[in-house]
Amino acid sequence: MYEMGKAEIDAVIKVLKSRQFMRYRGGEGGFTETFERDLCAKFNVAHALTVNSGTSALICALAAMGVGPGDEVIVPAYTWVASALAPLAVGAVPVIADINDTLTIDPADIERKITKYTKAIIPVHMINLACDMNAIMKLAKKYKLLVCEDACQAVGVSYRGKRLGTIGHTGAYSFNQYKNITCGEGGAVVTNDDRTYERSLMYHDAGSFTRNYASSVKEPFFPGVNYRVSEVQGAIMGEQLKRLDGILAKLQERRKIMVDIFAGTNKFKVAEHNAEADAVGLAIIFDSQKEAQAFTKKHKTGLLIETGRHVYTNWEPLLEQRSFHPKMNPFNWTQRKVVYTRDMCKPTLDILARAMNIGTPYNLNLKDVKAFAKKLIA
Ligand SMILES: Cc1ncc(COP(=O)(O)O)c(C=O)c1O
Repeated sequence: MYEMGKAEIDAVIKVLKSRQFMRYRGGEGGFTETFERDLCAKFNVAHALTVNSGTSALICALAAMGVGPGDEVIVPAYTWVASALAPLAVGAVPVIADINDTLTIDPADIERKITKYTKAIIPVHMINLACDMNAIMKLAKKYKLLVCEDACQAVGVSYRGKRLGTIGHTGAYSFNQYKNITCGEGGAVVTNDDRTYERSLMYHDAGSFTRNYASSVKEPFFPGVNYRVSEVQGAIMGEQLKRLDGILAKLQERRKIMVDIFAGTNKFKVAEHNAEADAVGLAIIFDSQKEAQAFTKKHKTGLLIETGRHVYTNWEPLLEQRSFHPKMNPFNWTQRKVVYTRDMCKPTLDILARAMNIGTPYNLNLKDVKAFAKKLIA
């Protein structure tokens, strides 16, 4: 969590005093609705729907886009496990692709992994780093694929003038406690497509067909789930959104100082960024695993390979193709045999064993940021 303060506390008190916690019980103009309107305006996107987590946002987006049984969805080998599990929740299966030195999905490997059953790609903007969206959208166009950007770890970050999440057909954000803006647990789906938005409304709320907006929805309602948020979350997010650009600017300022200092070392490289002008995330890469290990030992830090469920080799429930019920197992519905092995993405494992996230020191003043960066290259 970067910032949380009086504005959020006051907003929550307002909700509590109103005794109106459910977003669809209070009529128009509630806290959540206001947050969504402000998010759309700030991110220049037509629709936003707040949901109860980033995982829900991914699932809701895939369901809304019509991804389902028999479909394959390409996901990166380095991401929080939820990006790979979301396709399973709608009956599809993930196909795992390598990352490259940008620490995001490698467009060349996406193209190698496309089959006639591929329906969508989930590029993941890890640790505030942007995927190569130009290349990915070109592939999507060429092969007629849908793109759901997982911007859970990069809320608000821009890529060549657009906010991540608004470039693909859908985007998913997480507002859990570790994200750029937060309400503890939460998320959002964004899209510029009216039909996809209506379908995400239907999916996220089992009671959607009884809501005020139901008469304007253009297709028959299908049964949904409950991914709704309460007005408490909506109220907090309204205030967090006002802080977002300030948070990102502070991260960028610190990143730039560190990158300039890192230019003076040949011990490691700053991970290449797909949109350097807008860069917020900062990771470094060593030439060899030996050098990487010596560095982390000296500075008591960790490598990306050690980040547990962010690395595909630790996704046992998926690798073993398990399901909560044998008849609901999406691997029974694939149109070809999808096989996972622990060494299927060797380039990713090599990169992660040489790479480190330099969590930009948000709370240090600029003088201390410089001292911190200099210490890392000493
Ligand atoms: C890349 C990525 N995708 C999806 C998620 C899921 O978000 P949530 O924890 O809000 O469900 C996360 C959360 O950590 C994430 O980092």
